[in-house]
Amino acid sequence: MESQKEKILVLDFGSQYTQLIVRKLRELKVYSEIVPYNTSSERIKAENPSGLILSGGPKSVYDKSSFLPDKNIFELGIPILGICYGLQLITHQLNGKVIPAVKKEYGQSKTRIDNKSTLFKDLPAHLKVWMSHGDKVKALPQGFIVTASTDSSISAIANSERKIYGIQFHPEVSHTQSGKIILKNFIVKICGLKRNWTTKSFVATKVKEIQSTIGNSKAICALSGGVDSTVAATLVSKAIGQRQYCIFVDTGLLRKGEYEEVLNIYKKLDLNVKAVRLGNTFVSKLTNITDPEQKRKIIGAEFVKAFQKESRKLKGVKYLVQGTLYPDVIESSVGNPLSVVIKSHHNVGGLPKSLKLQLVEPLRELFKDEVRKVGHSLGLTDEIIHRQPFPGPGLAVRIIGLVTKKRVRLLQKADKIVQEEIRKANLYDAVWQSFAVLLPIRSVGVMGDSRTYEETIALRIIESNDGMTATWAKIPHAILQKISSRITGEVKGINRVVYDITDKPPSTIEWE
Ligand code: XMP
Repeated sequence: MESQKEKILVLDFGSQYTQLIVRKLRELKVYSEIVPYNTSSERIKAENPSGLILSGGPKSVYDKSSFLPDKNIFELGIPILGICYGLQLITHQLNGKVIPAVKKEYGQSKTRIDNKSTLFKDLPAHLKVWMSHGDKVKALPQGFIVTASTDSSISAIANSERKIYGIQFHPEVSHTQSGKIILKNFIVKICGLKRNWTTKSFVATKVKEIQSTIGNSKAICALSGGVDSTVAATLVSKAIGQRQYCIFVDTGLLRKGEYEEVLNIYKKLDLNVKAVRLGNTFVSKLTNITDPEQKRKIIGAEFVKAFQKESRKLKGVKYLVQGTLYPDVIESSVGNPLSVVIKSHHNVGGLPKSLKLQLVEPLRELFKDEVRKVGHSLGLTDEIIHRQPFPGPGLAVRIIGLVTKKRVRLLQKADKIVQEEIRKANLYDAVWQSFAVLLPIRSVGVMGDSRTYEETIALRIIESNDGMTATWAKIPHAILQKISSRITGEVKGINRVVYDITDKPPSTIEWE
């Protein structure tokens, strides 16, 4: 956890909306972090947050396996806002009563509010809100009053003396009218925050923190050519200068021409970059491997070996800087007992003890759009900031089935055409990612007068805000047509191109 001055901690009880709470708070210029629901009250007190938010969650407070917080958090004197399950927890743990609702409320609903209550100041008397609950409050805990209700249930309670508030609906989702005002009232009128968290203040705090962590030691940085690691490296370079050594590994699984392009960009930045070419090693380690998780693990291990080797050469290196982002942490399910592993992002949680380097991950709590803003305030140019994301394991997770040198070359050629056409159409910045995937599927085609039996390219072009959810891009058919005919015409070995029209969820962005 960080040592920001103004901070709200969000206790995560497993709601699908927990990250949205954090995002909304940051948009309101307040630093906020998610912590596990069972974080001890001592730990919370030590963090000295200005407020606590108890998230929603899938359980019922009466389930045998329900997620309950440390009861002492209610005695810390820190303002608390419980949302949905959070409201029910407050009721249950402070000796009120929660019962299963006869009429369960899911989706859009209308509630009457007491707009003299501090939490609802500046709001109309009726609000459209987003509900998702099967239980409801039957009896209030002592000292609480009802501050909002629908026809069938209590939708908000308050104890202004103890600064404990609960709401049944979700202010963090956009379907709740004025939800942001409710969160703002909590952080300003109840927690008394000034709302001064900006990317500039983030940079200043992080630089100091990195200086105090790394001290006079040396660090290596795993530089990938992408926005995240470049921003992380620039931030660390601001803190410890040339005592950071940036290692850029050519895995042989980069896009065509990317190695040279990235090195050129780095030449312009004042970073201490060392390029290591290991193309043959990575691909040969993947011989006979088709399982996506195995591919990721093998590549992760090879990266670790490369960093180990370089750090030994440099002597006295104690830290490894990585551009890990918040979605990587969530999706690798590190430290969150409530969620499942979707993909092992090799840069999260998978480092062996033998590496003997401590991790420095200055962007760990940020989303991609926030990282881009930090990059801007560090003076990085659009050339780097607006590069589309590229996964650490590279083309290996875009080559479905066996990864061979020949298949890497095939995908690189097709992918280059996608890049060229998307840029030509001025779509590179407008979409989140645009790339080609090589499928292990052969099909029959006809070229000239000959029969062909060759491989398939899938195009994946998607729009997203943070990579957590995505929709497939409805780009003009003429551009798809151009890409398709160029790939089949110019890349020998490909006779079919298909367009991936699945959102995330249910699919992920990368195919593996
Ligand atoms: P998925 O495929 O999980 O991808 O929907 C979400 C976003 O993360 C990128 N991605 C990665 N980035 N290391 C990274 O640094 C990885 O192992 C990795 N896997 C996926 C992906 O390109 C998308 O933007």
